[in-house]
Formats: sequence, structure tokens, C-alpha cells
Amino acid sequence: MADLEVFLQHLDKINGIDSLDLAKTLNVDHQKVVGAIKSIQSIGEILKVEQRQHKKWELTDEGKTVAASGSHEALVFQAVPPDGISQAYIMKNVPNAKIGFSKAMSAGWIRMDKSSEGGPKVFRKVESIDDLVQQCLVKIQKLGLDDITDAQKNEYKKRKLITEVKLTSYFISKGEHFTTSISKPHVDLTAEMISSGSWQDLQFKAYNFNALGVPPTCGHLHPLLKVRSQYRQIFLEMGFTEMPTNNFIESSFWNFDALFQPQQHPARDAHDTFFLSDPASAHAFPMDYLEKVKKMHSEGGHGSQGYNYDWKMEEAEKNILRTHTTAVSARMLYKLAQEKEFRPVKYFSIDRVFRNENLDATHLAEFHQIEGLIADRLLTLGDLMGVIKEFFKKLGIFKLRFKPAYNPYTEPSMEIFGYHEGLGKWVEIGNSGVFRPEMLLPMGLPEDVVVIAWGLSLERPTMIKYGINNIRDLIGPKVNLQMVYDNPICRLDK
Ligand code: PHE
Repeated sequence: MADLEVFLQHLDKINGIDSLDLAKTLNVDHQKVVGAIKSIQSIGEILKVEQRQHKKWELTDEGKTVAASGSHEALVFQAVPPDGISQAYIMKNVPNAKIGFSKAMSAGWIRMDKSSEGGPKVFRKVESIDDLVQQCLVKIQKLGLDDITDAQKNEYKKRKLITEVKLTSYFISKGEHFTTSISKPHVDLTAEMISSGSWQDLQFKAYNFNALGVPPTCGHLHPLLKVRSQYRQIFLEMGFTEMPTNNFIESSFWNFDALFQPQQHPARDAHDTFFLSDPASAHAFPMDYLEKVKKMHSEGGHGSQGYNYDWKMEEAEKNILRTHTTAVSARMLYKLAQEKEFRPVKYFSIDRVFRNENLDATHLAEFHQIEGLIADRLLTLGDLMGVIKEFFKKLGIFKLRFKPAYNPYTEPSMEIFGYHEGLGKWVEIGNSGVFRPEMLLPMGLPEDVVVIAWGLSLERPTMIKYGINNIRDLIGPKVNLQMVYDNPICRLDK
């Protein structure tokens, strides 16, 4: 502020001045004066400002050396001693000798003797010289182009010693609200200003409606979430209800035992499953159901011979990171069986599961499973194939093949292969089956209720959809966030 006031006080005395002259008088840089004018203008009509264009001559770099050490021709003249010197010496030792030599010749400062022995010799023709070029350039450098002739100007321009620059200045005079004391305008209107009424006497900075706003920081959906929402949409269209999958920690009981997976099954090994050390075991189980599961494993029942082994509670209690969302399906089916009257249901879930696998380009220790199930009376394998066909049709996969497979909890079981039109080949897209009576009957579901189910990973279709070859480019610390920002929403071709 103080700077600006000095400036205004000066203006107060003289009425009007060009910014270039003002810079000279105050002995400050012109740009600083221009900055001060702009600041004062933003406050109000303190100044009247008129823009002016100027042309100005300035020395080129070559011009500056001439101004400092003399013109090329003068340097040549000075290099010639009173008793002469060989031309070759001059050419070799004087900077810009070629042009200097010819200028000095035409100025009549030197002469040449071609007849002398040992090559042409140069002699002084006058005793002393006046280096007008240097003097003029010094003048231009100090004062601008005040008193040199057009002929000189043109010559120096041709010799590239000076060059024309364009300059904008401002002629300033007192404005309507001229004052020599200015206060910084307020930027914010505060509650105090309003309640005290002081706002009425204050100066406010004008709004700049052209200023760019701060770009809003906004979230972006990860490709997995984009694809997940499409799968969810398909399930919802087909009348499925989403299962609550919000706990990653599960007891071995619900993850394995309830699914008729024997306790010595290799999947229940630490090589395949993550076990929790704290809390290492779970305790709240529906005990009468647990007893039935135990019986089914160790003795069998309902026409099944079971596995015939010593079923252990400690094994069932072990807490793990769930290895599949089928654990949630088991919980939901058990819950359904507890209802008074059986009712058919269609359930789905899409959530994270964990497996202690070797990591490579397509496997991580965690991934997402998409799972669907239908429970109703007298369903058949044909129903399962039909629903799967309907489901994948909505994903744009029309050709399906089924291959017999094995799951401890389904019989029969089928791997699902689909013909991927984009990749032009058959790819494995899921696993499916009819839940075994050994799983459903201990829950208390009626004997004629059949549950058909299928599952697939979310990662695989996402990688195919977004053309990602390495799963580490999709999840984990190496993910390129720009990829997340830039990828479009997922639209499955229907
Ligand atoms: N739980 C199976 C898996 O982990 C998927 C599946 C779900 C299979 C339902 C059959 C029925 O691969």
C-alpha cells in the first residue's frame, strides 16, 4: 500500500504522466509501475488510464559490444600501427575484421599497398578517427533514439546493431475518485460488518466473474466397481435379492462344514486358506444345527453314508478369511429353513473372498466372487442350465458349454465355458451345481426343495472388458490411478 501511495502523491502534483516517464522519475522498473496502476485500478476510479503503444529502438547483442568497445572499423584502425602491418595479420587477429576492414576502407581511414613484399600491407591514412557509430549507439542505449538521423538509423538497422521493439505504456491522470490515500478493499463480507452496519462505508473488491474456480475433487469408481454395478443390475432385473456379505471373517463351520466339506479336505489347509490367530476361534453356533452337520459328516443320514470320520469341534471353530461367498449362501439358506413355511428365493452376492494362493499375473490372495442361487421345490439341472443361459445372455455371451466338475457341496457340478466373441475363443467363466441334500437337509429345508447355484469371479470379466492383462494393474499398489479416472463406465452389450 505504501508504494501505491507514494505513486499517487507524485501524480497529485503533476496531473498526468506516462508510465514510462514515471518509471524514470521514480527510478523503478516500468513493469512495477504497470503493476501499481493495475492494483489501483482494481480498487475503483482513482485513476484515468489510457493505453499507448510505442516503438523503441534497442541495441542488439552485437550493438551492445560495439557500444562497449568500439565499432568493427575502429577496431581495425586501431590495430594498424603507424608504419603499417600485413593485411593477413589484421584479418586473423581483429574480431569482425572482414566488415571492419571494408568499412574502414570506405571511411578513408586506412589504405592498402598490394605491391609490398610478403603480401598486401595496410597503412593508416589519417592520424586519428572519430568513432561515430560507437557514440551513436551509446546515445541510443542511454537516451533512446533522440538525435540521430534516419540515414544512421537505417544503416545500424541494416548492420543489425539496433532493433525495433514495441512497448505498451499507460498515460495516467486523476480519475473521478482520485485520492492519495487508499485502503485495501475488503474481500469478505463478515457477520460483524453486517451487524454493525460498517459495511456501508467500506470498499469491497469487485468480483472477478471470469476467474477460474478450483477444480472440484471428486471420487472415481474403480473398474471393478463399475463392472460390479452392471452384474448387480442383471441380478436385480432377474428378480434376485442381494445377500448381506459384509463380514470377511468367517468360521470354518459356515465356510466348510455347513457345505459338507470334510475336515481333512485339502482346501482347509493353511496352504489354501488364511487362518486367524486372534481371535482364533468362533463360538456362537446354532447348536442343534451344528449337531446335525456333525452327524452328517461322521455318520451320514437321509440315505447318505456321510464321510465316516471323527468330526472335531475345534476344526469347525477355527476362524478364517472366507474362501468363498458360498459361506454366506449357507447362512442364508439356514436362515430360510428356520422360517415357518418354506418360500422360494432367488439370492445373489458380489463380494470379496480370500485364498492363500501363489501370486501371479492372474491370481491374487483376494478377489471378488459373484454368486447366484435359487431355492425352490423340484428344480432340475435343466433349470440351472436355463438360468445360467439367461444370465450370461444379459452379458452378451450366447454360446455356453458345460463340463462336469466336482465341488464337495454340489452334485452334479458343472464348470461353465462361454464363447467370448471379442477374444474369439472359449473361456472358463464360472462354476455351478445343485447343492447336495447332505448340505440342505441338516438345515431343515423340506426334502423336495432343490437349490441351484453358480459362481464366477468379478476380476476376470473386468480384465477382459477393460483390456487389462496383469491383475496387478487392476488392484494393488501398482495401479495407475489415471487408468481409474479415465476408464469409461461399464456397459455390458446386451
Ligand atoms: N463356491 C464356488 C467357488 O468358490 C462357486 C460355486 C458357487 C459353485 C455355487 C457352485 C455353486 O468356486
